[in-house]
Amino acid sequence: MNDKQLVALQAAKYVENGMLVGLGTGSTANYFIEELARRQREEGLKITTVASSTISTQHAQSLHLPIIALEHISSIDLYVDGADEITADMTLLKGRGSDLVKEKLLAKAATQFIAVADESKLVSHIGQNFAIPIEVIPFAWQLAKKSLESVGGQGDLRPNAAKDGFWITSHGSYVLDMKFDIDIDANTLNELINNTPGTVEHGIFFGLTDAVFIAANGAVSERWA
Ligand code: 5RP
Repeated sequence: MNDKQLVALQAAKYVENGMLVGLGTGSTANYFIEELARRQREEGLKITTVASSTISTQHAQSLHLPIIALEHISSIDLYVDGADEITADMTLLKGRGSDLVKEKLLAKAATQFIAVADESKLVSHIGQNFAIPIEVIPFAWQLAKKSLESVGGQGDLRPNAAKDGFWITSHGSYVLDMKFDIDIDANTLNELINNTPGTVEHGIFFGLTDAVFIAANGAVSERWA
């Protein structure tokens, strides 16, 4: 079993009968979805799920997990998702994919949000390995970029896979991948980007995580806020 699978299985132990469970997106989240399906099949676990992306919806449906749409919920019991970067104060960078909007809504709506990752995701500061993905309304991209540049951001629109156009998120936004000065802390950056007109959502998950589970060399460590 690899570390991503191991940490996902550990998070799945926190799922109890009757819970409404948020499903994250990505390879680690997929292991979590598969473990829920196994527990449903083999242990009779009774849960309802809500997914952060179309791909996770499809995965959950293919495994016969009961699933409801995001617009039908006002809160959830538990959300489990991966991350691209995790700092010591449990701030996350997410959104290498296209599903930031739903991911942050579920993280906020959850009574408990557990971030799961292998140790490669641990960083000393947000933005260490990746630019900050910032979803912007397509017609606002240039104005949003200028605002972000005025507070020290550098970057550009993310190209699509064929490099003949721009990346479109599942919410229909463009993505500005922006690097900022290492001295700006994640809290300040979170506020700066939140206050940028034209921004739909961004990849910094500040103050949302209740626990971080990290797997390294076949062992999982849990850190709770
Ligand atoms: C998608 C995400 C993912 O959770 C993140 O990219 C981690 O992915 P993986 O578990 O495949 O390493 O934020 O928006």
